[in-house]
Amino acid sequence: MTDYSKYIWHNGEIIPWEKAQVHVMSHVLHYGSGVFEGIKCYNTEHGPQIFRLEDHIDRLFDSAKAYNMNVEVERSDLINGCKDIVSANKLTECYIRPLIFYGYDTLGVDPKNCPINITIASFYWGAYLGDEGVVNGVNVTISPYQKFSYKSMPTTAKASGQYMNSLLSVTNARERGYDEAILLNDEGNISEGSGQNIFYIKDDVIHTNDEKSSILLGITRSTIIEICEILDCKVEIHDFNLEDLINADEVFFTGTASEVTPIRSIDDQLISNGDPGPITLKLRRYYMDIVFGKNSSFNKWLTPINSESKV
Ligand SMILES: Cc1ncc(COP(=O)(O)O)c(C=O)c1O
Repeated sequence: MTDYSKYIWHNGEIIPWEKAQVHVMSHVLHYGSGVFEGIKCYNTEHGPQIFRLEDHIDRLFDSAKAYNMNVEVERSDLINGCKDIVSANKLTECYIRPLIFYGYDTLGVDPKNCPINITIASFYWGAYLGDEGVVNGVNVTISPYQKFSYKSMPTTAKASGQYMNSLLSVTNARERGYDEAILLNDEGNISEGSGQNIFYIKDDVIHTNDEKSSILLGITRSTIIEICEILDCKVEIHDFNLEDLINADEVFFTGTASEVTPIRSIDDQLISNGDPGPITLKLRRYYMDIVFGKNSSFNKWLTPINSESKV
């Protein structure tokens, strides 16, 4: 069970965790009609601060727009909601999960008059791919399930139902003893992990793909691209395939929960000698310094939580 917190932000109010419940006829339970975000708060030298909060809330609104959800709250309400729920739960380091979903009115697939509900949870969550995976790298497999195409669903939206594709992939990978799955797209190229973007490094050039490969445009991905520019590392954005990854010098995942996680092997084939590579480690260090507030040039991306708790 997810680590329990005391409170949840629910349609503008902070209520006890156990009271945040929905009716079983809620549209979202039947059709996955929700959009969400995954955000992290770090215990920085200047107290708890949320990383790229505004960018996550912007993507949440974009996801809602992609599904024609008529969200009537202001952007600032959700930004404040995230800050308030972290302080209400007295957390210093946590994961924040805003969710906008259709409640109960009709069971027609067209949600018509279903009410829109918004919740924001905050709770402690350790390393997504395990403490060891972050340090030594993870062993991944190519999923037998194809990533749905951007022509079928907006892959740049973070929508609840879309994650059934990720669920199939990651459970299949774990059953077969791997840490995570990589999904191929309908062209047979690499798309992304079940909850991460992918980068590879070959001859000191950093490569990743974009929305044309049916990926979610990760906020960590864009952070890493910006870091590469500062470090004068060349980045090339294009489609790539499994062979490119197998022959790469280094491969790594990026994601809010996964941060920068080295990939050790793909279907038992080691990437180089399997150890995390020097550029991956350098980018990871730089990223962790930013999220922990140790690089003042990036303080623009850190939002302090409200020190006054609303409960
Ligand atoms: C499918 C998928 N791709 C990529 C990512 C990485 O996105 P971000 O860096 O914004 O967390 C996620 C994150 O949850 C994801 O679910």
